[in-house]
Amino acid sequence: MPQKKKRIAILTGGGDCPGINAVIRAVAKKAMLECGLEVVGIEDGFDGLIRGRHQKLDRGDVSGLLTLGGTILGTSNTSDPYRYAERSSGRLVFKDVSKKVAANVRALGVEALVCIGGDGTLGIAARLWGDGVPIVGIPKTIDNDLRGTDVTFGFDTAVSIATEAIDRVHSTAQSHHRAMIVEVMGRRAGWIALYAGVAGGGDIILIPEIPYVLDAVAAKVKERKKRGRRFSIVVIAEGTKARGGEAVVRKIVEKSADPVRFGGVGFVLGEQLEKAAGTEARTVVLGHLQRGGSPTAADRILATQLGAKAVEAVMAGEFGRMVAVRGGMIVTVPLEKAAGGPRTVPLDHPLITAARALGTSFGDEA
Ligand code: F6P
Repeated sequence: MPQKKKRIAILTGGGDCPGINAVIRAVAKKAMLECGLEVVGIEDGFDGLIRGRHQKLDRGDVSGLLTLGGTILGTSNTSDPYRYAERSSGRLVFKDVSKKVAANVRALGVEALVCIGGDGTLGIAARLWGDGVPIVGIPKTIDNDLRGTDVTFGFDTAVSIATEAIDRVHSTAQSHHRAMIVEVMGRRAGWIALYAGVAGGGDIILIPEIPYVLDAVAAKVKERKKRGRRFSIVVIAEGTKARGGEAVVRKIVEKSADPVRFGGVGFVLGEQLEKAAGTEARTVVLGHLQRGGSPTAADRILATQLGAKAVEAVMAGEFGRMVAVRGGMIVTVPLEKAAGGPRTVPLDHPLITAARALGTSFGDEA
């Protein structure tokens, strides 16, 4: 009797990000070509495991994915098996369906489940591993805010998109002598704002880690005007708040493990700045544009390295681990590392120091 092929499953959870398909491709190709494994794709994150929706992936299914944005498997950021939301008599009720998920993984007959996700997905993965499901995690998010790894794929692409947007608002800011405010994503961390702000030559960079003082922001705009620079570029992260103030919440997604969705602080700042600096201000919110489209070369390379390392971990039986970048090396770290809350920008980050030395304001001088 021919031996049944061993199999692994791949799942993508949380918000999509450029490079996920490149990871799926790397995991699936290495698993199929080098290790002779069968590969099963779980549909729509943990939702697919809860509802038993999956498909066998063939070589053709994972070809041509390197440059493709999004995830071919679909994703969900509202399907936590430990807190699964269902409507009952018009009300949302939360159930623990983790035992069903563990049973469904067993029924698939897989050696391991490879989970590609951010802190939410990998936090769930860590709990499932604790409940006996063999898992290897791969970190993913444009926000770059995962603990346990120095960088996540998707971040470089988001920074490139945001930088291009900042470049493009320069000419209109200059022509109209305005303050142009570019609001970028990042949740409670300012990585995208800091990197794109520096790359795009932002005059003022505002991040959640440094609550801003309106007078300090206005002072920078006025000081530039005095020097004949009649426009200013402000880059602000969506989770930023004024000193002593609250972050601007756009939406509450009840079913989500982290229900807060930020957005709109750029508009609030624009109105404040018009009054405080006597300048005209316009705001651009980049939103989901930062998550769409083709990954950069750097993200494709990182995704490929992480995907290949994940299969290596599976073959070595290294479960309950996440592949990660540490000091330029691709390594594995315990999965729980990713679940320890957001990795925010340290206040003494060298890029902040360098930008300050060049006259960039972080809105905190006053
Ligand atoms: O975590 C990625 C991210 O794009 C954040 O930067 C942003 O705050 C959030 O997801 C938006 O979530 P949603 O896609 O649910 O609007």
